[in-house]
Amino acid sequence: MKTCKLALIGFGNVGQGFAQILRDQQETISALGLNCLIVAVSDLHKGSIYQPQGFSPADLLQAVKEGSSLENLPAQARGWSAEETIRQSGADVLVELSYTDLQTGEPATGHVRLALQEGMHVITTNKGPVALHYPALQALAQQKGLKLGIEGTVMSGTPSMQLGGELLAGAGVFKIQGILNGTTNYILSQMETGAPYAEALAGAQQKGYAEADPTGDVEGYDAAGKVVILANVLMGASLTLSQIQREGITRLTPADIQSAQAAGERWKLIASLEKTPAGEILASVRPTRLPQAHPLASVGGATNAITFSTALLGDVTLIGPGAGRLATGYAILSDLLAIYRA
Ligand SMILES: NC(=O)c1ccc[n+]([C@@H]2O[C@H](COP(=O)([O-])OP(=O)(O)OC[C@H]3O[C@@H](n4cnc5c(N)ncnc54)[C@H](OP(=O)(O)O)[C@@H]3O)[C@@H](O)[C@H]2O)c1
Repeated sequence: MKTCKLALIGFGNVGQGFAQILRDQQETISALGLNCLIVAVSDLHKGSIYQPQGFSPADLLQAVKEGSSLENLPAQARGWSAEETIRQSGADVLVELSYTDLQTGEPATGHVRLALQEGMHVITTNKGPVALHYPALQALAQQKGLKLGIEGTVMSGTPSMQLGGELLAGAGVFKIQGILNGTTNYILSQMETGAPYAEALAGAQQKGYAEADPTGDVEGYDAAGKVVILANVLMGASLTLSQIQREGITRLTPADIQSAQAAGERWKLIASLEKTPAGEILASVRPTRLPQAHPLASVGGATNAITFSTALLGDVTLIGPGAGRLATGYAILSDLLAIYRA
């Protein structure tokens, strides 16, 4: 049995989803040979605590559920900043789960860099550091002999990165197409039932899929961040966000949706990456009319999907959740298993 000591930065939806998995799936995880100990949690408003023997995930969840500060739990130290937590917790793995900022990547990038410099493996579901700084962070991890787990940054726990990066690494992937934003796919599905855009968006907000300011989703920035991650991690590119041709779904009208339906086609916000014979990588996010026979055409609601076009296997498509606290919490567990199995 391998014990891994974890420090969590951020204890919001994903941190709590991960704690829930550790609480409820302990037998399964032990059977896989892993003993996960959360030795530190640092959260801006929920409090920061450190306990070298580890906290019970159930106690952490109960405290947050009751709206009580984590700092009311028995702990050896309290009130540490994220940086103090990274430097002083002695954890083997930093799990970085703070807010995504696709403009600066901070503060998460600073946390990831510091943890690698301090000799910790890092797992993050935060797109900011990965979309903006992956090549440099991966180089640092490699130089230190450490792993950087990023499964949850694309399609949450649906294993798109491990499928593309490990299992299909020798299959000659030359093109990747995906529905990588659940909010816009939900909106487009609703528009197909006759709802105008504004009504479909309001429904997505009501269901908690879309934020009060939906720009990041509906204008394609979130999907573009994921395209950069796929390009740089799986295709060895060094693209930046500004190099992605990006168009959102806000200009699609009910008439556009109907005319596609009449032709037996469906509009989808497609994130696409293609290697040209000259080795150039063409990357885009744009609304695309797909024929019904296309593997991504039937993916409805908030579900995500990705198709890898390969030289040896043809098309390989993976469909699954792209968000959610348990689904994204699972991404952390799958990265941990990959690190400890290696
Ligand atoms: N939720 C999903 O389905 C999903 C899917 C894929 C990827 N992600 C990504 O995963 C990350 C976490 O998502 P989430 O849904 O858990 O977000 P969340 O519910 O907003 O939680 C983020 C937590 O991080 C804390 N935080 C922010 N900055 C911090 C700092 N400097 N130091 C310590 N704590 C800090 C926040 O504290 P306070 O709120 O207490 O201030 C909050 O509790 C995000 O980057 C998100 O984009 C989420």
